[in-house]
Amino acid sequence: MIKFNIPPYVGKENEYIAQAIASRKICGDGTFTQKCNQWVEEHTHTSKALLTTSCTHATEMAALLCDIKPGDEVIMPSYTFVSTANAFVLNGASVVFVDIRPDTMNIDENLIEAAVTEKTKAIVPVHYAGVSCEMDKIMEIANKYNLKVIEDAAQGVMSEYKGQPLGTIGDYGCFSFHETKNYSMGEGGCLLIRDKEMSEKAEIIREKGTNRSKFFRGEIDKYTWVSAGSSYLPSELNAAYLYAQLEQAQAIYDDRMSSWNLYYELLSPLSETGKISLPTVPDGCRHNAHMFYIKAADLKERSALIDYLKAQKIFSVFHYIPLHTAPAGLQYGRFHGEDIYTTKESERLLRLPMYYGLKPEDIHFVCEQIIQFYQ
Ligand SMILES: Cc1ncc(COP(=O)(O)O)c(C=O)c1O
Repeated sequence: MIKFNIPPYVGKENEYIAQAIASRKICGDGTFTQKCNQWVEEHTHTSKALLTTSCTHATEMAALLCDIKPGDEVIMPSYTFVSTANAFVLNGASVVFVDIRPDTMNIDENLIEAAVTEKTKAIVPVHYAGVSCEMDKIMEIANKYNLKVIEDAAQGVMSEYKGQPLGTIGDYGCFSFHETKNYSMGEGGCLLIRDKEMSEKAEIIREKGTNRSKFFRGEIDKYTWVSAGSSYLPSELNAAYLYAQLEQAQAIYDDRMSSWNLYYELLSPLSETGKISLPTVPDGCRHNAHMFYIKAADLKERSALIDYLKAQKIFSVFHYIPLHTAPAGLQYGRFHGEDIYTTKESERLLRLPMYYGLKPEDIHFVCEQIIQFYQ
């Protein structure tokens, strides 16, 4: 059986979790959380990184920091996970979906400006499969209309756009460390804050609306409730698991990249016949091999391929159902312009097994079966 995903495990996780337990500090913001925050700050050069309980929560924090209010509009692709939209909908905003580019499945940067209205407050690019959106154009529009940019970099840890780490280009960046991601803590995420002056406000929102973080640093002698907030800090046990992997980040990256390259090489002949399409990584983008997907001709062919692979004990999965077609999407959002690619391309896309430690012989077997299906 070839599973679709196996959570990453590098070997030191148990030891670090045991250390966290022995330290008698298993709530949030202990040594391992600080080490993870520091790792993200050093590797991305962001001003401030705060580990969170999920990427969903990092995005909710970003929405609060951007002061999203009822009546505001937020522009994003419809081809994304529900959390991208929920964070803003929870604050009363409505979502304006624009179409994606078929080559990267990312928001089409050339359609964003036409969707801007007087109510628009933010743009949320989603870096699908760890391949960057066209950030120069997105930042140009944001600057022109004074909009906030929140990068959904759930899948983009260790990816770059023109040499700049994803998550650090917009005002805020949101990482996911869910078990399906390249680096994991079970459930978890991180908020990246570009402008240092927003860090204190972020710390307060993350600590139930209190200035407890300042208190723990000895900057004040008692802490109190200072604003609206929630509990967005993860347990040290989760942070300990993550830190083991961050220490091995490059090894995990290299392993996934060689799997990705092998898939690409073995499936290229089939793609050259026009039977399937392979992912595109535009110039200037360094991706992180988060995902390997192919595109079948249409929904019917994709369903047949999933069944065929399943019969060979290979688990492949499709991805998002476009949000604008979902009940909540109809209630909280609208699609600006025409859905030329979102639905059509999402129905074609199929994700193949990909995880740290995936064996080359398994990749060979998966590709042979796909080739056989098309014969
Ligand atoms: C694009 C995108 N955004 C946000 C999330 C939510 O991440 P988390 O599970 O860490 O909340 C996901 C999860 O897969 C995702 O794919």
